Amino acid sequence: MVQLRLPLNSRLQKGKTYISSSKGQNMKTFHIYRYDPDSEENPRLDSYELNLDECGAMVLDALIKIKNEVDTTLTFRRSCREGICGSCAMNIDGTNTLACIKPIAECKGDIKITPLPHLYVIKDLVPDLSFAYAQYASIQPWLQSDETPPPNKERLQSKEEREKIDGLWECILCFCCTTSCPSYWWNGDKYLGPATLLQSYRWIADSRDEAAGERLDNLEDPFKLYRCHTIMNCTNTCPKGLNPAKAIGSIKTKMIERIG
Ligand code: SF4
Ligand code: SF4
Ligand code: FES
Repeated sequence: MVQLRLPLNSRLQKGKTYISSSKGQNMKTFHIYRYDPDSEENPRLDSYELNLDECGAMVLDALIKIKNEVDTTLTFRRSCREGICGSCAMNIDGTNTLACIKPIAECKGDIKITPLPHLYVIKDLVPDLSFAYAQYASIQPWLQSDETPPPNKERLQSKEEREKIDGLWECILCFCCTTSCPSYWWNGDKYLGPATLLQSYRWIADSRDEAAGERLDNLEDPFKLYRCHTIMNCTNTCPKGLNPAKAIGSIKTKMIERIG
């Protein structure tokens, strides 16, 4: 089995064209990346023409309609269909986003859909996130405290302490940001990338966590953190409106503060 990485804007050969049996005034063509590492075939773009009058409003609705009614072999991930699980992350017309909250009406002309860029492809629109998840696990994304929790109630925070993790806890780990980051494209084996770094700062900034020092020690490395060059692709693409570049900047500030 040969897995391929898909660079952004790569040229792909044209594949099959599927015309919907239902015709109307509101037809739209979806060009979709197809690749099966178990086959001997090169990746290709298949085209599917759909009648939007018989389809839901979001790009994920179109993918589900294609899979249900036109081509059952089309493979993609999805679960919540409301922007919460992060599993339908893909590249739509050149931008990494969530298919379930991307309105078809926002896409002018034909729509091109490819997997998240610069990851190995398991099949069609499904990228291999194993390494990105291993990087996430490396930051130990759970609360660490030696203090025994108070009996029968939560560990409390003041309103001000709680506000410090706003803009961080909302991250759904879709990796749209990480796979839009040029530093991650070139050094993804060593650079942790914006999603994992934002998650790391989520724990560093949490008043209930007592492992901030160890967390910063773990990031004190020429590659893990300092490959961020503030290019801002991550923040521009986040479908949840978060700012990973700012979180990375906050980690760098903490690094400076602790050396005085
Ligand atoms: S700001 Fe940093 S993490 Fe974000 S895209 Fe640029 S280099 Fe990557
Ligand atoms: S910061 Fe945004 S783009 Fe990045 S993983 Fe979290 S939700 Fe997705
Ligand atoms: S299906 Fe869960 S975020 Fe899109």
